Parts: sequence; C-alpha cells; structure tokens
Amino acid sequence: MFHYMDNAATSFPKPEEVLAVMEHFFNNTGGNPGRSGHRLSLKSGEIVYETRDLLAQLFNIEDPLQIVFTLNATMAMNMALSGLLKPGDHVITSSLEHNSLARPLRYMETKGVEITRISCSPPDFQISLEELEQSIQKNTRLIALMHGSNVTGTIFPLKEIGKIAKKHSLYFMVDAAQTAGAYPIDVQREGIHMLAFTGHKGLFGPQGTGGLYIDPRLKIESFIRGGTGSLSEEDRQPDFMPDVLESGTPNAMGLAGLSAGVKYILKEGIDKIRGKEEELTFFLLKGLKEIDGIKVFGEESVKRRMPIISFLVDGVSPSTVGEILDDEYNILVRVGLHCSPWAHESMGTIPEGTVRVSLSYFNTEKQVDNLIKALKEIVKEEVETS
Ligand SMILES: Cc1ncc(COP(=O)(O)O)c(C=O)c1O
Repeated sequence: MFHYMDNAATSFPKPEEVLAVMEHFFNNTGGNPGRSGHRLSLKSGEIVYETRDLLAQLFNIEDPLQIVFTLNATMAMNMALSGLLKPGDHVITSSLEHNSLARPLRYMETKGVEITRISCSPPDFQISLEELEQSIQKNTRLIALMHGSNVTGTIFPLKEIGKIAKKHSLYFMVDAAQTAGAYPIDVQREGIHMLAFTGHKGLFGPQGTGGLYIDPRLKIESFIRGGTGSLSEEDRQPDFMPDVLESGTPNAMGLAGLSAGVKYILKEGIDKIRGKEEELTFFLLKGLKEIDGIKVFGEESVKRRMPIISFLVDGVSPSTVGEILDDEYNILVRVGLHCSPWAHESMGTIPEGTVRVSLSYFNTEKQVDNLIKALKEIVKEEVETS
C-alpha cells in the first residue's frame, strides 16, 4: 500500500460520502440543473443550490447566489481579474503566488495593468504589511494574494490585509486554493471582496469543481456568455448573479460530490481537521530536523504554517528523492517547482525546486514515521556513496 502525501496537488483519499453522493447522482438524478423543468432537472438544480448554500455557510457568505461555480480556482481568478481590471489599474500581489494568479497578472501587464510584487523572504516568507501599505498608489485598485502557500506553507494574515484594503478603499481578492476547508475563512470578517476556491483539495470534492465568491457591490464582466436556463427568450446575457457569470451546463455530478465534501468538513469541524494536520506537521518537522543533511523551508511553528513542507536533501536532487520515495518506499510526494516559479525565486531553489510533502486529515502518524525512516536511509546512502 502506498502513502499519499501530495494533498496540495489534490486531496486523496476523499471521504466515502463524496463517492456515495456522486454515485447516487449518476444513478438517480442525472438531469440538467435549472434547464428542463421536469423532476430530475429540478432535483439536479436543488443539489447545485445546496452546494452553494453549504459553501456560503463555510465562508460566511450572506447570499449563496454571489458564488459562481467554475472548473477550479484558476478559472475563478482569471474570471475575477479579466472582469475587473482595466488598463491603468494597479494591483499589489506577493512573490509567493501560484502561476494561476501570476500568469493572468503577467498577461494583464501586457494590457496596461501595473503590478507590484511584494517579496516574501526567508525564514518565514511572511508578507510585510508595512510594505504592502507603502506600495499603494493613486491607481491601486486591487490587492490579490493567496491565503496559504503551496510551496512554503506560509499563511497570510487575511484580517489585517483586509483592514488595509478597507482603509484605502481597495478591492481584496484571496486565492484560497490551499486553505479552503482546512482554515476558517470568513469573507465578512476578513473584508474579502472576491474569494477564489477549488473543490478538489481541502474541500474534498472532485476535480473540475471550484468557484468565485463576489461581493454584491462588485460588478464583474463575464468572459463567457451562453445558456443559463433563465430568460431563455432573450439573446442577451441575464444581468443577475450567478447567471451573468455562469453559462453552459455545470458539473452537477461534481458539485454533488463537493456538497458531500463540504458537509463532511462542517460535520467534523475545521478546528478538528486543522488540529490533526498540525499534529502531523509537528511530527514531520521534528523528524526532518533530526536528520543531518536536510534543509527545511518556512515557518517553524505549526500554528503559523500549513501541512505543506518543502525541503532539500544535501547531494540528492529533488527529482531523485521523489523517484526513490515512489519506487522504493511507495511514498508519493511532489518534486520540482510546484507551478510557482516566483516562490522558488524567493527561496533560491530555481531551477530544480524542492521536495514537497503535503499532508491531509487522512494521513497518519505512522505514515509520517515511515517517511522519516525512508529519508534517513536516503541520506545515509548518499553519505556512504559520496
Ligand atoms: C496556491 C494555489 N493557488 C491556485 C492553485 C490552482 O488550483 P487549481 O489547479 O485547482 O485551479 C493551486 C494549485 O495547486 C495553488 O496551490
């Protein structure tokens, strides 16, 4: 049996309920949501609405209809940036961002949008709130940041950043791809105007699900138009949420699975999920620290970081470590740049990147122990052969 430790890429396994609900949808529901008006279409529509409602509960969103479903966080952020920004606008971001934000921002730069990237440096890779505030210009329109880093495990202080955004009347967009489901996120308390999330990581849903919450005071222009099941007599896009931004048949079976994932999180409780992940992270960091020849990146305190740990083994490339762990120990981790070249520039780990272990609620202490034993053997072998 293998140990899956690549949950930052996608969570695995999922709670049993997720598959059960998707199977039930496949066998019994099947209709196109909000389209045909017959019982199976209505049932499917109810399931999609229930998913919106559960996510609204999870993120303390007042009106579930302000959530637009997308394929993933990447699509959500592209929708947000292209629908909001105009040439001449200025955006503040950080040097830890994933390519799903970095690349659309780079693209927007070619269209006349100005970008300031705040450097997040070792040892903790935290963002400087002073620098953030000092970077605000007359034309600043948006602060666009991740909540948690998929490379360094850094967690940004949303509430404090939200306060700065509010003080300067700026929009605040958060990429919650890594934190949704495992950290409390409250769009009202944290002053978030747009929240991008993906369904297949901490929310325990299937791949191909995700979404964007949009503050009701904000108008986002759509880059896609088409059938919504509403106002079918008109050839113009409805102007109400979520239909204005949600065209074409959604991934209803996937959203059924996502609803089961969110229900599971609400049932278990975020504190319990986070608590277990902190415990595992503690064991992992402690074990790694005891091995001479391993360099760990990021914050030391498990209270201030995610269960995502990047490290290097002296004398062995990250890709070789990954291969040995997979082939000889059945341990699955990710190696390389993790779609985040900016973060690796900040860490000085270009071009080879790092080995990244990312744990979930379903990993065990025993698995972490086995990983530490495997790494000890890899280091020993390297010392003996060099
Ligand atoms: C911080 C961060 N943002 C965004 C994404 C993109 O998520 P998705 O591929 O589901 O759109 C990821 C995926 O790894 C991520 O780690």
